[in-house]
Amino acid sequence: MKILLIGSGGREHALAWAISASPLCDRLFIAPGNPGTAQCGENVVLDIADHGAVASFCKLQGIGLVVVGPEGPLVAGLADDLVAAGLKVFGPSKAAAQLEGSKAFTKELCAEFGIPTAGFGRFADAASAKAYVASQGAPIVIKADGLAAGKGVVMAETLDEANEAIEMMFSGGLGAAGAEVVIEEWMIGEEASFFALCDGTHALPLASAQDHKRVGDGDTGPNTGGMGAYSPAPVMTKALEAQVMAEIIMPTLAGMTKRGSPFQGILYAGLMITAQGPKLIEYNVRFGDPECEVLMPRLKSDIVPALLAACDGVLDNITLRWSDEAALTVVLAARGYPAKPETGSVIKDIDKAAALDDVLVFHAGTKQTATDIVASGGRVLNVVGLGKTVSEAQARAYRGVDAIDWPEGFCRRDIGWQAVKREREG
Ligand code: AMP
Ligand code: GLY
Repeated sequence: MKILLIGSGGREHALAWAISASPLCDRLFIAPGNPGTAQCGENVVLDIADHGAVASFCKLQGIGLVVVGPEGPLVAGLADDLVAAGLKVFGPSKAAAQLEGSKAFTKELCAEFGIPTAGFGRFADAASAKAYVASQGAPIVIKADGLAAGKGVVMAETLDEANEAIEMMFSGGLGAAGAEVVIEEWMIGEEASFFALCDGTHALPLASAQDHKRVGDGDTGPNTGGMGAYSPAPVMTKALEAQVMAEIIMPTLAGMTKRGSPFQGILYAGLMITAQGPKLIEYNVRFGDPECEVLMPRLKSDIVPALLAACDGVLDNITLRWSDEAALTVVLAARGYPAKPETGSVIKDIDKAAALDDVLVFHAGTKQTATDIVASGGRVLNVVGLGKTVSEAQARAYRGVDAIDWPEGFCRRDIGWQAVKREREG
């Protein structure tokens, strides 16, 4: 079978790595891909926003499965248009992608179907939003409704901060994403990400992970797309996983079907493990990046039959084997990230890191020139370590990081700190 994978990040390199290992995959195309995905298949230049052009390419090549990595094309309805053209697509419809595209949509779904989440209100003007904040008090969380590239959440410790965030969003500080604002109770607990593969009716739990959103050591500085992750998340016990499936994932699938937009694809639940049990922070409708880079190395089964079963609505026939080992990824970013990453610097010795035992390197914002690999984005490389414990995986990942010669890059030095602390304390 020929497969087309859409995207160009570290997530897509990890997916390309897993998909290309399948005996079912004869030929893998990645659009647009990156120098890492080029090692797993053929990168193709396609305008992803031109859905007709993507469909024509698929017809011409006889593509049997399209896998969509990022949320942008899903929210824009790429899956709908390709399915209408008769193609098999892994990833949700535009209507189902609202689970990520609109925070208000997800909160209403939670309210209607009894899915545990933070208490909330939604507002279309600054005055009523401010009145709500005044009635609730601080601390409180202010969120832009739409996609805001990770910048749409303000954790307001005081009423002044909350009002400032409301002003910023309603005065267009985040563009159209801030036309509506969701205000939430500030939940206390440990965060974990949980991934489930869904076919509209059935859901297969995949694995858990923990991300590191802040740019600096000790979880300081501005939010980023993610500076590192590990899997599994020790906080997610088997019992909690079962609770999340029963109280959060399955009611979501049932609710989406009831609303006429069944969810097929990856449901990525951002969870807060509170004293009252797991609560949903938000949904994403795709694999996390960098979480995917730690999930794929732990997946021991062929991923392609599972993706096909999700498209065909027969996930109940699939079981997946997972390694008990931990995987941990450290993101190498270009100096200046997230505000203003400096691109163009040369990166050497990636192959030295990749040659180390139990180390994998996935590319993200890199570019191949005639002679070198250079940085071309904010998050540039993912160095993954595998080990019996998170501590061991962490040591291997940093060994890989230290083998790479890139003075213009930086990384956090404490990825995995929560799990490592837990392991030390036994
Ligand atoms: P989101 O983009 O909705 O995932 O929010 C980004 C981050 O903000 C989350 O990973 C949490 O750390 C934090 N966050 C969002 N909503 C809440 C909430 N209601 N209570 C506590 N923390 C939150
Ligand atoms: N790492 C967070 C995300 O993919 O949204």
